[in-house]
Amino acid sequence: MIITRLIVKNWRNFQQIDVPLRERQFIVGPNASGKSNLLDIFRFLRDIVKVNGGGFQKAVKERGGVSKIRCLSARNDPDIAIEVHIGNTADASAIWRYEIGFSQEPRGHHYTYLKHERVWKENELILERPDKDDTDDPDRLTQTALEQSALNIRFREICKFFRQVNYLHLVPQFIQYANMIQGKVIEDDPFGQGLLERIASMHPSTRRSRLKKIEHALKIALPQFDKLEFIRDKTTGHPHLQTHYSHWDLKKGGHREDQFSDGTLRLIGLLWNLFENDSVVLLEEPELSLNIGIVSKLAPSISRIQRSQKSQVLISTQSDVLLIEEGIDGKEVLLLTPTKKGTSVQVSSDIDDIRILLKNGFTVGEVVLSQTRPNHIGGLILPE
Ligand SMILES: Nc1ncnc2c1ncn2[C@@H]1O[C@H](COP(=O)(O)OP(=O)(O)O)[C@@H](O)[C@H]1O
Ligand SMILES: [Mg+2]
Repeated sequence: MIITRLIVKNWRNFQQIDVPLRERQFIVGPNASGKSNLLDIFRFLRDIVKVNGGGFQKAVKERGGVSKIRCLSARNDPDIAIEVHIGNTADASAIWRYEIGFSQEPRGHHYTYLKHERVWKENELILERPDKDDTDDPDRLTQTALEQSALNIRFREICKFFRQVNYLHLVPQFIQYANMIQGKVIEDDPFGQGLLERIASMHPSTRRSRLKKIEHALKIALPQFDKLEFIRDKTTGHPHLQTHYSHWDLKKGGHREDQFSDGTLRLIGLLWNLFENDSVVLLEEPELSLNIGIVSKLAPSISRIQRSQKSQVLISTQSDVLLIEEGIDGKEVLLLTPTKKGTSVQVSSDIDDIRILLKNGFTVGEVVLSQTRPNHIGGLILPE
């Protein structure tokens, strides 16, 4: 399943968001336009349902409380609200809809409390709060039904879906030295430290088929790349990845992960994560750590994996190189534009200037970032 639509009110620097989402969605905007804040909306939903130490109160507190989350330019309607639609594909109609709205007690303990919580399955409203129990006992509004297994039976599927939201900020050194560090892996493993162990714990035939698909996707970015294998060190028993490049003498053996380039490792980690999730993978500005050749091939590598995997990938970026691939549709790019009333979020192909340029054969990478740098757009000349 994927999130097919996001509607938000008063979340950080967004007064209002209402956008459809695709399987592969790029979130583009200048520094401090709110890319990380936007991705954080999905992490917030995950934090509510996290198995170890989740919960609504904690998720709000970890973000500094309602006063930090609420948009500074919020007007007369100051509640914070999030609504997501969830469906099997971007084009199919939504199966689920989850809505949450919250605020803070003006006095006393300043608890965060729910203003509303609703769940729709297809077109049936199956949860609506506040309900009678909430009216009788307002303390109940400090917890979502989403986080309580006694109350979420009829929409457990949404809880599981949110729980799997995966935020990835791979640190290659953690993978390279995982066997040596042997440290505690942080919950959800955002840095990729547990990658080799996770690969090792797969059923061998599933592992082989995944590595094969990753191998294909890697070849798009690294044409001389030949083979990716899983091996165990005969002496230590530690798991390793091994690569071969087509221009190498095979007899000399391959490279192990501690010899891979950072970019190769990040790409392997990212692609493996896509396989592990049939939910949402959040990827923060991957261009910051990848070389330009790999960045330009990231988008097609992701779609290659997505052919066999139903996950959704939301990628924040400032890089035109990442968007240069011809296959990227204008709908796959959300454009963040800071304004006095907060940042606006638009589907790039809904913007007239951009749509015209895309129709005339420019790629998203050529036109979208020039939109965020206004002086440049005049430089693009339309064919007669
Ligand atoms: N509650 C809020 N109201 C308005 N703006 C906020 C709020 N919280 C954070 N911001 C602003 O959001 C911006 C940071 O957004 P961020 O998501 O980190 O941007 P990016 O990832 O695009 O660089 C900062 O300018 C910060 O002042
Ligand atoms: Mg950021």
